[in-house]
Amino acid sequence: MALIFLALAVGVGRAMALAIREPILRFTDNGTFQIAVFSDLHYGEDIEHPQLVVINGDLITGENTYKHNSSDYVDRIVAPLVNRSLLWASTYGNHDSEFNLSRQEIFAREKRYPNSLTQSMVPMHSYSSGVSNYYLPVYSANKSDMTPKAILWFFDSRGGNEFQTVDEDGKVVAINNYVDSSVVNWFTTARDKLNDLHNTTIPSLAFFHIPVTAMLAFQQGPGVNPHKEPGINDDDPLDEQGPSDGSFNYKGQDKPFMKALVETKGLMATFSGHDHGDDWCFKWNKTLPEMDIKGDGVVLCFDRHSGYGGYGTWTRGSRQILLDERTLGSQTETWVRLEQGNISGAVVLNSTYGEDYYPVVLDTHT
Ligand SMILES: *[C@@H]1O[C@H](CO)[C@@H](O)[C@H](O)[C@H]1NC(C)=O
Ligand SMILES: *[C@@H]1O[C@H](CO)[C@@H](O)[C@H](O)[C@H]1NC(C)=O
Ligand SMILES: *[C@@H]1O[C@H](CO)[C@@H](O)[C@H](O)[C@H]1NC(C)=O
Ligand SMILES: *[C@@H]1O[C@H](CO)[C@@H](O)[C@H](O)[C@H]1NC(C)=O
Ligand SMILES: *[C@@H]1O[C@H](CO)[C@@H](O)[C@H](O)[C@H]1NC(C)=O
Ligand SMILES: *[C@@H]1O[C@H](CO)[C@@H](O)[C@H](O)[C@H]1NC(C)=O
Ligand SMILES: *[C@@H]1O[C@H](CO)[C@@H](O)[C@H](O)[C@H]1NC(C)=O
Ligand SMILES: *[C@@H]1O[C@H](CO)[C@@H](O)[C@H](O)[C@H]1NC(C)=O
Ligand SMILES: *[C@@H]1O[C@H](CO)[C@@H](O)[C@H](O)[C@H]1NC(C)=O
Repeated sequence: MALIFLALAVGVGRAMALAIREPILRFTDNGTFQIAVFSDLHYGEDIEHPQLVVINGDLITGENTYKHNSSDYVDRIVAPLVNRSLLWASTYGNHDSEFNLSRQEIFAREKRYPNSLTQSMVPMHSYSSGVSNYYLPVYSANKSDMTPKAILWFFDSRGGNEFQTVDEDGKVVAINNYVDSSVVNWFTTARDKLNDLHNTTIPSLAFFHIPVTAMLAFQQGPGVNPHKEPGINDDDPLDEQGPSDGSFNYKGQDKPFMKALVETKGLMATFSGHDHGDDWCFKWNKTLPEMDIKGDGVVLCFDRHSGYGGYGTWTRGSRQILLDERTLGSQTETWVRLEQGNISGAVVLNSTYGEDYYPVVLDTHT
């Protein structure tokens, strides 16, 4: 595990030095950096050797938990990662906030583990911003190079119900399902500061649990081509970011977030879960039906459903993302490692992704 110890002298003239254990993400000496994306079950780790695990939302099904022990599930979820000394970073999903379960509790429980890189960089105002909004820099294999080579952005797409709250009728109170504009403002400011500080456009990836509406517009508009966007496409129409009423009609709640994504130079791809029956990636490079935002070529991907909780029996898997320091920004390799050990939907996200011809994936169930 890439733990380095920084000895920091605290205060002028003070003899004592405080040792801070600071995990640093970096490309391996091979020039590669691999990310494995899970929702809530961990396997395939004996085959893949990721530098980071992303737990991309819906860690726990909060509807079925008890207040007195709901966050104990975190210990079970991370046990295999702790066992293998893997570092992880989480986003929280719509099932992670319920009457008996709160994101803050999950976060606090996660932070008992030094392997958790999850952070909360946007102060939470009521339920408007969520908890898991932050970024992680990934550094070069060259330890003298202090410019981050990639930035990993994590966003909280919220959802679920308020913790221990009921309305006048005794009903639970729903939380909106989209990345809030307060978070978008934090993102664009932090992004511009990072690029200014390092005087370069740093390539990036983004992770958030619920997909943006552009994925629905693509699915319902041009449509998913099984050779060009290989993947399962069974959740049709897919469920996208929006208000808490769960309507499929586009009302623009995630528009500020989508605008910020397409305006982010160097953003290579985004990754979402939520729709267990979809695992394709598409390149957003035009204006989609009913949307007045033009994609800039960013690739929007689904993860593969990993957990045994939640709906659906599609063969469980984990999306793998392989970055290479030498080709960063021009290509990203990605594939789904299935529970049975084989691979599904291996593609190269490069300038011709969307035109390149791939074999159709098998739609298998367990
Ligand atoms: C580097 O590449 C070699 C050969 O492909 C492989 O055996 C090794 O595990 C890789 N090391 C890391 C840290 O990825
Ligand atoms: C919340 O948890 C308590 C016990 O900790 C349990 O009695 C109650 O039924 C749970 N409520 C819901 C809505 O799940
Ligand atoms: C929480 O408590 C309930 C009963 O009180 C039990 O059935 C359940 O297994 C517990 N969950 C965990 C994660 O310990
Ligand atoms: C990891 O799990 C294996 C199998 O359960 C166990 O034998 C081993 O001691 C664990 N290692 C650590 C570091 O916890
Ligand atoms: C490592 O980075 C430093 C600082 O950017 C640079 O001067 C040096 O040439 C780099 N080394 C290699 C082998 O690229
Ligand atoms: C920033 O980068 C540009 C283009 O690479 C270069 O011309 C300029 O001198 C750099 N500015 C600073 C302050 O390093
Ligand atoms: C993109 O990757 C695919 C799959 O490896 C390849 O066939 C295609 O030639 C690549 N495109 C470019 C521009 O390199
Ligand atoms: C968008 O990408 C597709 C597939 O790569 C390509 O066929 C199309 O020409 C591109 N459109 C624009 C406007 O760049
Ligand atoms: C993966 O391997 C299993 C067992 O060999 C096979 O049944 C299944 O069809 C394969 N799945 C895919 C998507 O190739």
